[in-house]
Amino acid sequence: MSLAMILPDTDASAAATEPDARRTALIHATGIVKIYPTVSGEPVLALDQVNLAVADGEFVCLVGPSGCGKSTLLRLLAGLDRADAGHFSLAGRPIDGPSSEVGVVFQQATLLPWFTIWQNVTLPVRVGGRTLVSRETAIRELIRIAGLQGFENKFPYELSGGMQQRAAIVRALACDPKLLLLDEPFGSLDALTREKMNAELQRIWLASRKTVVLITHSIDEAVFLGDRVVVMSPRPGRIIRDLAVKLPRPRLPAETFGHPEHIALAREIRGLLEGGDAP
Ligand SMILES: Nc1ncnc2c1ncn2[C@@H]1O[C@H](COP(=O)(O)OP(=O)(O)OP(=O)(O)O)[C@@H](O)[C@H]1O
Ligand SMILES: [Mg+2]
Repeated sequence: MSLAMILPDTDASAAATEPDARRTALIHATGIVKIYPTVSGEPVLALDQVNLAVADGEFVCLVGPSGCGKSTLLRLLAGLDRADAGHFSLAGRPIDGPSSEVGVVFQQATLLPWFTIWQNVTLPVRVGGRTLVSRETAIRELIRIAGLQGFENKFPYELSGGMQQRAAIVRALACDPKLLLLDEPFGSLDALTREKMNAELQRIWLASRKTVVLITHSIDEAVFLGDRVVVMSPRPGRIIRDLAVKLPRPRLPAETFGHPEHIALAREIRGLLEGGDAP
């Protein structure tokens, strides 16, 4: 897909605020500041002047050191918390609370254990006041794409961790959101399962063409999946680099991980995270 919206390999704080008119920006975040009060006294400045623009249909991966504010930024994008300064918009409208236009998947699969997979994945539609009939065909298709066909009547404990995470992704897509937010969804999986999940997530994304923001600690995962990899500084979190990934899709783990562009980007991101090249 086109990567024209954000200039690659430039200072992200400048680039991210200048969307290319050729593409529609789905998310616009400008000047985001988040301060957490603490009981012990000193407030924690978690995010400091974060600017981020994500185009409609784009897959953006967010990497940064532990505690730099990635989950904070995701929660703000999901409308689950409020920023202390700055402005967020989704499709031109301010983000001021949770919305059925945004699907979220957290690090631990949060399926309800007393519901079957079908009951879990259809829950947002049912509690959102929509008729299941209006989404049933689409959800059955998502289940098929996610490789969960035949498991609809199983309970979460009967599925592997990877399958549960796929079900959580299907649930996040159930209401046909514009935006999918993923916070380290595969962090608890072993390396090979994770690689397989990356390929499957790419397949789901290619089929659904949602806008995705994925947080990950894995540089390989970020480069494998992203149209862009956005690198954050240690806390207070700022965006220090915005790198375009121009590898063709669909990407196959066996080919992509050894590709010179993958290796070069991964090396550059590692350098940034180690503090070697950060401004
Ligand atoms: N509810 C909260 N109250 C106070 N401080 C918080 C709260 N949530 C997060 N923080 C602090 O804000 C900073 C950013 O936290 P956040 O969870 O966003 O980091 P992260 O980048 O997601 O880290 P990780 O990679 O370890 O998940 C951290 O210093 C954290 O201690
Ligand atoms: Mg986090």
